[in-house]
Amino acid sequence: MSAQSGSYVRIFDTTLRDGEQSPGATMASAEKLEVARVLARLGVDVIEAGFPAASPDDLSAVRRIAEDVGQGAGEDATPSGKPPSICGLARAHKGDIEKAWEAIKPAASPRIHTFLATSDIHLEHKLRLSREDVIARVGDMVAHAASLCDDVEFSPEDAGRSDPEFLYRVLATAIEAGARTLNIPDTVGYTVPEEFGRLIAGIRDNVPGVDKAVISVHCHNDLGLATANSLAGIQNGARQVEVAVNGIGERAGNTALEEIVMILATRRAALGLETGLDSTQITRASRLVSSCTGMFVQPNKAVVGANAFSHEAGIHQDGLLKNQETYEIMRPESVGAHQTRLVLGKHSGRHAVKARLSALGYDLSEEELGQAFERFKKLADKKKTITDADLEALVADELYQPREVYALESVQVACGTLGMATATVKLTDPNGESQTRAAVGEGPVDAAFKAVDDIVRADSRLLEFAVQAVTEGIDALGQVTVRVQGTGAALTLNPQHEGGGQRTFGGHGADVDIVVASVKAYLAALNRLLAAEDAVRHRQPTEAAAVRH
Ligand code: KIV
Ligand code: ZN
Repeated sequence: MSAQSGSYVRIFDTTLRDGEQSPGATMASAEKLEVARVLARLGVDVIEAGFPAASPDDLSAVRRIAEDVGQGAGEDATPSGKPPSICGLARAHKGDIEKAWEAIKPAASPRIHTFLATSDIHLEHKLRLSREDVIARVGDMVAHAASLCDDVEFSPEDAGRSDPEFLYRVLATAIEAGARTLNIPDTVGYTVPEEFGRLIAGIRDNVPGVDKAVISVHCHNDLGLATANSLAGIQNGARQVEVAVNGIGERAGNTALEEIVMILATRRAALGLETGLDSTQITRASRLVSSCTGMFVQPNKAVVGANAFSHEAGIHQDGLLKNQETYEIMRPESVGAHQTRLVLGKHSGRHAVKARLSALGYDLSEEELGQAFERFKKLADKKKTITDADLEALVADELYQPREVYALESVQVACGTLGMATATVKLTDPNGESQTRAAVGEGPVDAAFKAVDDIVRADSRLLEFAVQAVTEGIDALGQVTVRVQGTGAALTLNPQHEGGGQRTFGGHGADVDIVVASVKAYLAALNRLLAAEDAVRHRQPTEAAAVRH
């Protein structure tokens, strides 16, 4: 049987690489590890954990994932009982490949993913290489990667706009040099499904030795076609699909993991294809990625949006009451989106909270549970019914925060119709000292942010601020995300490799009081920015210029 037949489609998740490199999605190392653990629990076949040559921080974050998730920590929690492969991205340069290997080698199944562009536009304007140079470099670099690691993936960047005949030659060279996976990226999201499907069929039918390799697809969403293009690729022989949770990724993002997985599951009879994923973990993964990146999921997003299983129109509700299948093609439970109301209140014990968190897939240490329980009690004082979503928001707020450079001690505001809002904020600074400032503003959030700015004095600009209720009702927990942009020189992106501009950072916070949630979110974003500035300052000059792809 060739690698293009068979019904199993491998899921290669790039949330931590392509996803994390999208504007504002920067995650701290501890957050990356937590996301990797959830991806393992979900059952993805490969986790692309990062781009180790980009910086020493990236390398150590990938290594930590390889040592933990890649060695099967909590492997009983993966659907197959086996740890996922851990993959590191590398440009087709010796140095990058060696750094990727250094980072991933502790994993039980390490994979090096190396890439080089093949479209004429990239060859001419970006790489300044001839086609023959590209063939030679691919042969050498794939062979170098294969001399270090058994499992090598090669991607011809911008394959969607490359000459197919040249692409076949490049791919044949990569197979000959030892590549076991050929990933075909539509890097700029330019193709349409029929065209992309034809490209994959052409590769399947024309590349010498292709039977020895798995064809993979990696589609960007610039025209909103990433999922449709990926599906067309799978229907034409691809047996690996590269995806990101919530579809995050460069520009308009990557193919959304949840969409591909639920298409293959929901339309199994028609498509005859399957994945190894436990789809009931999808909602949890989506919420975690949203919390860690500070990127909200749009309410009407397929599968994981807040409205994905809500029915408003009377005629729909009537139909559903008669038979759920009238308007529901998937059950919310199948993606773990069911809302169980916890009949827990302020008299409930730690054990009950622990049991519910464990049912939701959170295995917390005693210390983490202690913190979550404290917050649960405080919430139960203010809110009568606590849903799973509330509980998850509390846990995310507690656990998935960046390293605290500045910590919130208290915030107090006065506002209303009679004058300017005022806020007093007390923070602990990096030396452990309390700092208090008061400020006036257009509203309570503006005043509180000004007081924070007066203490932190970061070179930054607020880009986005959004508030969402976690559940319905006047006592709902408010969830805030903010995005800030660094304005200092240390956070300028490399114009040649990163497109220039300034790095952005997201933060989230949850509380029944939205001013408190806002200050927590703002501080989380500023803490990420300060940590990034610190990392850049402590880096060697050559490493500071290191690139994301
Ligand atoms: O979009 C792209 O071409 C990529 C490659 C590195 C696979 O992300
Ligand atoms: Zn990409």
